[in-house]
Amino acid sequence: MELIKAKNYEDMSRKAAEIIAGLVREKPDCVLGLATGSTPVGTYKELIKMYEAGEADFSKVKTANLDEYVGLSGEDKRSYRYFMNDMLFDHINIDKKNTFIPDGLNRDEKGECERYEKILKSLGDADLQILGLGLNGHIGFNEPSDHFPKATHCVRLERSTIDANKRFFSSEDEVPKEAYTMGIGTIMRSRKILLLVSGEGKADILSRVLSGKVTPAVPASILQFHPNVTVIADEAALKLSEL
Ligand code: F6R
Repeated sequence: MELIKAKNYEDMSRKAAEIIAGLVREKPDCVLGLATGSTPVGTYKELIKMYEAGEADFSKVKTANLDEYVGLSGEDKRSYRYFMNDMLFDHINIDKKNTFIPDGLNRDEKGECERYEKILKSLGDADLQILGLGLNGHIGFNEPSDHFPKATHCVRLERSTIDANKRFFSSEDEVPKEAYTMGIGTIMRSRKILLLVSGEGKADILSRVLSGKVTPAVPASILQFHPNVTVIADEAALKLSEL
């Protein structure tokens, strides 16, 4: 794994956006795997600035997001579809028809997972997959487990994930308890992976991901086996990592 040390969140975001924009320039019809959550917000802001400055053209780019809460519609402000429109897609020249996210309103679990898998297959392996890191080591919503799930599936969210995400909801009861997520197998087939990590709160889990045992109990540890991973982490997140 290549490690890029960033000073702080802003520096991490700029460095990540430069890599993404570089790929978009090199391959205008690339497939990007995208993440939600707090971590990539600054990166998306930088990409919007680059688009506004005429430095990045997203007209041919296709995107597939990692996950979506079960039970929320794309119009719900707390859904990941809404987040992506609001944080990125509404502000760049991407064709929304080329942006894909699981459908949280489809309660037919098997049917929705199969539908999303078909979309991912038709897009082909992502040229670049952006990942945030959960406090429990999850990537997408692949929670700690006894195996690495291959394909899109429906997960029950762990208590620590519900706790971490309740800040976006008015009460804990409102946090959906299930989500659709891309599988680890699909993530691992991406040509390149960019793992973004910021803040002291992630220092312990990041050190385990970078140099601990590879185990489904720490899902992101599998990234040690991927041939092309770049980790961009800030000083606070790297506090406990021996480099
Ligand atoms: C989001 C996702 C999650 C987050 C992770 C970190 O699409 O798949 O794995 O990346 O929970 O979340 P933040 O960035 O809010 O700390």
